[in-house]
Amino acid sequence: MDLKSFIRTIPDYPKAGIMFRDVTTLMGHPQAFRRAVDELVQPFAGLKIDKVAGIEARGFILGGACAHQLSAGFVPLRKKGKLPYKSISQSYELEYGIDELEMHEDAVAPGERILVVDDLIATGGTAEAGIKLLQKGGAIVEAAIFLVDLPELGGTQKIEALGVPTVSLMRFD
Ligand code: PRP
Ligand code: ADE
Repeated sequence: MDLKSFIRTIPDYPKAGIMFRDVTTLMGHPQAFRRAVDELVQPFAGLKIDKVAGIEARGFILGGACAHQLSAGFVPLRKKGKLPYKSISQSYELEYGIDELEMHEDAVAPGERILVVDDLIATGGTAEAGIKLLQKGGAIVEAAIFLVDLPELGGTQKIEALGVPTVSLMRFD
């Protein structure tokens, strides 16, 4: 199954010059969605992952499915101001703006083995912020996994420079 063919591209969204890679078309297809989740978690099946950390918003959809598949817990990494309990926060730059990511201060315990999940990596700023939050909590980030990599934006190198391996299922050059 060619998973890449299920991604829809929308030119000039959310602003001129951005080719937006829309994963909702893949998620809406029963076989493609199952196949994508199976392929994402396959390298980690025997690794005793404690929790999957999903990045708001599309990383929640994939991350929840991956956590279920791995019999792991789920940690939401949310945009600023959405979490109800005491949180730690980390700001980051996007391909098209600036934002802040937050995590409940007790969401992970020291030494827990975590997978970070998001739909897409562009500059890597979002995933880097998520990894820093988890590491501040004392967790071990085993890997960061994505459906889509935009390699021209250098995100994968940024994450691997932190010592965190990355996995992605497809690239758009
Ligand atoms: C998108 C995507 C990643 C991030 C990748 O999310 O889902 O989280 O951008 O970009 P980066 O690698 O340059 O940091 P977005 O900020 O659009 O938020 P959303 O999922 O809430 O729509
Ligand atoms: N997040 C950052 N850049 C993106 C893009 N080009 N398509 C979809 N999501 C993104």
